Amino acid sequence: MFICPICKQKLNILGEKYACAKNHSFDVARQGYVNLLPVSGKKSLSPGDNELMTNARREFLNGGYYGKLLDKVCALLKSFNVKTLVDSGCSEGYYTRQMAVAFADVYAYDISKSAIKLASATDKKSRYFVASAFHIPIKDGAVDAVTKIFAPDSPREFARILSPNGVLVEVIPAEEHLLEIKQRLYDNVRLNKLEKAEKECFEILSEERLKYSFTPTKEGLENLFKMTPYYYKTPKDGQEKLLSGEIFAVTADFLIRTYKKRR
Ligand SMILES: C[S@@+](CC[C@H](N)C(=O)[O-])C[C@H]1O[C@@H](n2cnc3c(N)ncnc32)[C@H](O)[C@@H]1O
Ligand SMILES: [Zn+2]
Repeated sequence: MFICPICKQKLNILGEKYACAKNHSFDVARQGYVNLLPVSGKKSLSPGDNELMTNARREFLNGGYYGKLLDKVCALLKSFNVKTLVDSGCSEGYYTRQMAVAFADVYAYDISKSAIKLASATDKKSRYFVASAFHIPIKDGAVDAVTKIFAPDSPREFARILSPNGVLVEVIPAEEHLLEIKQRLYDNVRLNKLEKAEKECFEILSEERLKYSFTPTKEGLENLFKMTPYYYKTPKDGQEKLLSGEIFAVTADFLIRTYKKRR
């Protein structure tokens, strides 16, 4: 399944480490994950979401507010008879660990080491690794499906690791996602701009919008705010104003697109 992130040769799993024939080796951490991100692949010392964002994500998602999305993604994958799947940009693993209950072999990676540490400490069934979506250390044609949920796009790499009949399921924010939060933070609120559906190496099979309203608790709202970029772009008094007010209903608005690999 794995290839060496340095020389691209097969990686063998030897007890507590992964190693290639050229002796590049990668230790399995106490939590069970392996770091396959070469230092040269890092743009900063700790790329990706930080611990604060990841912990907030875990707390918020465990509140079940996005459970409907999880169910939809699992149902879609089931309709394609998926056995081996990779969750790209999985963060703390909310979707991954529940997909691992439904599918035989689940692999997941994120560029954030702290996120993978947290994910692998809780879920012993999926295989977690630190890597970038732009250099996935998985061999060609090895997986039936890739999921990319609110995570960076890397169509060429996704197509490379997918089998000929493989599918890509992506979830992106639709126009009104978290609108009420933006309305409380900004004077002139714009709807989210949709990413275009065309994708290199892929043909679109379906597109479905999932839109509903949910009312987070105060703690839920704080965690939701902290897992979005809005929190970090808002001055302290603005942050406090949003969090000290009455609780309010928020729109969840997702676009779920399914693609097949172009032949
Ligand atoms: C908005 S979060 C979504 C996480 C998760 N899929 C979810 O929906 O809960 C985006 C994630 O992408 C990760 N990320 C950013 N750049 C990445 C890259 N080049 N390769 C892999 N993951 C990346 C971040 O660290 C972060 O955990
Ligand atoms: Zn190597």
